[in-house]
Amino acid sequence: MTGTKKLYIKTYGCQMNVYDSERMAEAMGGQGYEEVSSPEEADMILLNTCHIREKAAEKVYSELGRYKGLKAEKPDLTIGVAGCVAQAEGAEIMRRQPMVDLVVGPQSYHKLPQLEARAREGHKALDTDFPEEDKFDHLKRRPKARRGPTAFLTVQEGCDKFCAFCVVPYTRGAEVSRPAARIMDEARDLVERGVREITLLGQNVNAYHGHDGGLAGLIRELATIDGLARIRFTTSHPNDMDDALIAAHGEVDKLMPYLHLPVQAGSDRILKRMNRQHTAEQYIRLIERLRDARPDLHLSGDFIVGFPEETEADFQATLDLIEAVRYGSAFSFKYSERPGTPAAERPQVDEAAKDDRLQRLQALLTRQQRELQDAMVGREVEVLFEKPGRLPGQMVGKSEYLHAVHVHDERIAPGDLARVRIDHSGPNSLRGVEAVLQKPQ
Ligand code: SAH
Ligand code: SF4
Ligand code: F3S
Repeated sequence: MTGTKKLYIKTYGCQMNVYDSERMAEAMGGQGYEEVSSPEEADMILLNTCHIREKAAEKVYSELGRYKGLKAEKPDLTIGVAGCVAQAEGAEIMRRQPMVDLVVGPQSYHKLPQLEARAREGHKALDTDFPEEDKFDHLKRRPKARRGPTAFLTVQEGCDKFCAFCVVPYTRGAEVSRPAARIMDEARDLVERGVREITLLGQNVNAYHGHDGGLAGLIRELATIDGLARIRFTTSHPNDMDDALIAAHGEVDKLMPYLHLPVQAGSDRILKRMNRQHTAEQYIRLIERLRDARPDLHLSGDFIVGFPEETEADFQATLDLIEAVRYGSAFSFKYSERPGTPAAERPQVDEAAKDDRLQRLQALLTRQQRELQDAMVGREVEVLFEKPGRLPGQMVGKSEYLHAVHVHDERIAPGDLARVRIDHSGPNSLRGVEAVLQKPQ
């Protein structure tokens, strides 16, 4: 047996946590850890957590509860909590769950190897600082292993918007952009290792200012990388959607015609109370401008129902906005009270009304999603293939609009791009035929 130690990471929350988990796994690789897929095998368990809604945060404690037996059997097991719950609750986590050895906030991941060493020596290890340095400069670089065709790349982190319902400005801190040169290096490295589509990540990704030309400038520079076929970015705030970025949607072929642009609600009264800093009308105008630049653009969004003091009329305004925009897909949530946020102090909507509104909202969003998916039948789409499907000879990939597309064609391999004609729309995916493979660009 080698001396390799085993690390199990469980990731909750947003795509940024997925990216961070990859980077932490690589950093711990440098400490002799190899990633495993079950907690039973692990010498170290790391939960990368999310604090956005109460349910998300509570999952952490129920998951920790499941490790009690493991810790009793294997006293050397190190249990760590990373991510936004770590940042929000800090040492409180160890008080509530004494089996936790290590707590590390999202801006301190470069300290993880040191913290792990402290925990191994039997000490409790905690770091939830917001240091000035860029943690990614101090985290070991990714090893040169081959990668799948799609990857996330964090370019911006944190948020200065302080929407009245949201914990992110507290858990991720102030907005910070990574320098464009580092992002370009990381993107080239990913492409050399087989990546063909990069999704740029940020809590407020379009507030990115690490490039002279902002996010649009970064996207245009990334588009010059040979072999990189597709660029996406998420999540954007409507108020940071500047002219340059709107123009890029019309001019940069590699930028996919799909945009996640959350609005949260359609009533101006509620938008104001949410501190979103724009009206429903301004949002709809913005979408018109985006569609002028890129007529085939599909939109996705996030919605909150039952925000404090939301009336039935306010909720109806959200439905009206959705009817006006027509979304390709969307996420919707019942408002969840978060400690320390201004909205938690306001009069709350009762649970039954929230349930009822969520159901009606989701019915409308599902119908729109289905309509736009069904409208693909008979059309040609471009698919980036990711992996084999469940049936022999079948491959699955994603269209420009992130629709899953199944094609039967033995010639296709993961990482291939092809134009395919859609002949069927199923409950969760499309079926394509007549694939015409495209050369790497
Ligand atoms: N930066 C992104 C959102 C990050 S959080 C933006 O500005 O849109 C992801 C989504 O979670 C939000 O868009 C919102 O819809 C939802 N969310 C955030 N806080 C919430 C809360 N307290 N209750 C319910 N949903 C919430
Ligand atoms: Fe949260 Fe997004 Fe608002 Fe920032 S802009 S406070 S991340 S919802
Ligand atoms: Fe959750 Fe933190 Fe992301 S609260 S949504 S993991 S930024």
